[in-house]
Amino acid sequence: MPEAAGYYNSKKTDDICEEVCGQASRAALTMTRIRCVLRGVDIRAFILLAILVPSCLFGIYLHGQKISYFLRPLWERPPKPFNNIPHYYHENASMAELCKLHGWRIRDSPRRVFDAVLFSNELDILAIRWHELRPYVSEFVLLESNSTFTGIPKPLFFSENKEAFSFVKPRLTYGTIAGRFVKGENPFVEESYQRVALDQLLRHAGISDGDLLIMSDVDEIPSGHTINLLRWCDGTPEILHLQLRNFLYSFEFFLDDKSWRASVHKYRQGKTRYAHFRQTDDLLWDAGWHCSFCFRRISEFIFKMKAYSHVDRVRFSYYLRPSRIQEVICKGADLFDMLPEEYTFKEIIGKLGPIPSSFSAVHLPAFLLQNADKYRFLLPGNCQRESG
Ligand SMILES: *[C@@H]1O[C@H](CO)[C@@H](O)[C@H](O)[C@H]1NC(C)=O
Ligand SMILES: *[C@@H]1O[C@H](CO)[C@@H](O)[C@H](O)[C@H]1NC(C)=O
Repeated sequence: MPEAAGYYNSKKTDDICEEVCGQASRAALTMTRIRCVLRGVDIRAFILLAILVPSCLFGIYLHGQKISYFLRPLWERPPKPFNNIPHYYHENASMAELCKLHGWRIRDSPRRVFDAVLFSNELDILAIRWHELRPYVSEFVLLESNSTFTGIPKPLFFSENKEAFSFVKPRLTYGTIAGRFVKGENPFVEESYQRVALDQLLRHAGISDGDLLIMSDVDEIPSGHTINLLRWCDGTPEILHLQLRNFLYSFEFFLDDKSWRASVHKYRQGKTRYAHFRQTDDLLWDAGWHCSFCFRRISEFIFKMKAYSHVDRVRFSYYLRPSRIQEVICKGADLFDMLPEEYTFKEIIGKLGPIPSSFSAVHLPAFLLQNADKYRFLLPGNCQRESG
């Protein structure tokens, strides 16, 4: 019987089928044979699925965010490139020369400058910022809320520590705003609510048309000479983004040159709105520092991880364990175990893994170097943080 022989041969290679269908093989019917092969496939496929599907789901649960970040170049285009404005500076160049190098003209007197921030808990970085800008800023404006953007009650950290900032007292407009504490709301709603309140506080501080207004987060610090240039020159753009050097945890971990959210505006009543997104194409290069998560104490890292608008990044509670946070800081790794946010595979792959240490402390805020003992944790080779 040629059919039976053929059946036998095909079965030999198929152990599962032999076990399951051994009895039926005697009938040697073509239909049985097909059914048998199919059943064998079914069981193997079933076992495979039973193992693969749960492990895939578990893998996606653990790494889903990474997978979507890695595939980002497929579904998201990079934003429109900026109009990059070269920045010229030397401490010995005169202001007239500097204005001219940028294609601007020197003014008879400098514009007034307002520096306005929404404050959360960045006390050390705030001191460095205000000392850096102090010679050039006419009025500092600070607003703090008793709610984080994520709706957690918070102490008024600035108010509790205001003696440390008495050096700006005559030039400070300080305001508080009550949190709304709406449960389950997108944190960006509370954030924009606070920015609107900052607009009102600015008017209260006496800002008027033609004054310069710095819009940036506390940890986005324009260099003093940049603000001095902008206040002394005419012909500068109405709105100008500042390209800052991006650091993480301290000035030891230089990430990239891609911080652009900080901006300087010529204030126009009724038109200028405090914002932290892209507002124009013009970008002045090398205009300062952006030091993210540059905290002295581990408890401040934990507070910030829970408080900021990207709180969804804390996907597992062990992310908040102090020993893990300390380890991540010293390695220059990512607190949220995320992939680099980039738009091309080349850039994502180039940035994978921890940030290499830098041993340069050249061109940093002056106040930091003048008080190196107090701010040692921000300098290269000092990754250990105060516990608690
Ligand atoms: C800068 O100016 C000072 C004082 O005029 C001068 O002594 C110094 O040599 C100058 N430095 C450079 C690098 O040109
Ligand atoms: C926040 O501040 C407002 C106004 O001072 C107050 O009424 C409210 O009770 C405060 N909320 C919390 C949670 O501290």
